[in-house]
Amino acid sequence: MNTLETEIVAGLLDTLHRAAHEADNAHFEQVMTEIEASGAGAQQWAAKLLADEKTGLRPVYQGYADHFLSVSPEYGQFLYAMARASKAARIVEFGTSMGISTIYLAAALRDNGGGTLIGSELEPGKVARARGHLEAAGLADLVEVREGDARETLADVGGAVDLLLIDGAFSLYLPVLKLIGPHLRPGAIVLGENAFDPEYQAYVRDPANGYFSQALAIDEGRGNEFTVRIR
Ligand SMILES: C[S@@+](CC[C@H](N)C(=O)[O-])C[C@H]1O[C@@H](n2cnc3c(N)ncnc32)[C@H](O)[C@@H]1O
Repeated sequence: MNTLETEIVAGLLDTLHRAAHEADNAHFEQVMTEIEASGAGAQQWAAKLLADEKTGLRPVYQGYADHFLSVSPEYGQFLYAMARASKAARIVEFGTSMGISTIYLAAALRDNGGGTLIGSELEPGKVARARGHLEAAGLADLVEVREGDARETLADVGGAVDLLLIDGAFSLYLPVLKLIGPHLRPGAIVLGENAFDPEYQAYVRDPANGYFSQALAIDEGRGNEFTVRIR
């Protein structure tokens, strides 16, 4: 039995995904209505959020303090599979929120024989809740959630990184990739969830930058990008 299948972790993830649905559903429906009414795609909707973030990042995410904004169960299982396939021992996560994605990744670390996940989260209330969820999952010993702006808290990740999940502020995908990039080992996986920033997409899809990258079909429309460090 793998860690995701244990009663504690499976039960907790089920509870958290339900809580996320309850907290976020009205927000997501509103976003879908806005996208449909505008006649533009998700990429254009994301462009507005990118612009809002550039005028003030903290107020935008303070507004989401009680929202999970989490990965789907399907994407979570994909995260687990990626971390297992790459035999990841050192993982970095930009955007921990309440810790749902973190639980999938930390479960993979446990099943890989151990390791470390360094997470980052701007909102103090979310950091506290994520830590509580990781304790409840029995995975807290594998995870360090750093509170504050990832551009500062992830400046020192203490060694080579096998897998990077980028799931934070839309406008910081490229800055965070450039911050962690020098630590990514050849073959490391970078997963961009909601990687809507055209500059980020162009950067990872240009082999001259040392990556091989393509859009992912999982949760289509959510801007998921799958990237491998090729050198
Ligand atoms: C989409 S949510 C992350 C969801 C999480 N990965 C999951 O699946 O459960 C994005 C999170 O990034 C956080 N965030 C935004 N800007 C940040 C920054 N500069 N540093 C750290 N965290 C940030 C937000 O507060 C928010 O909780």
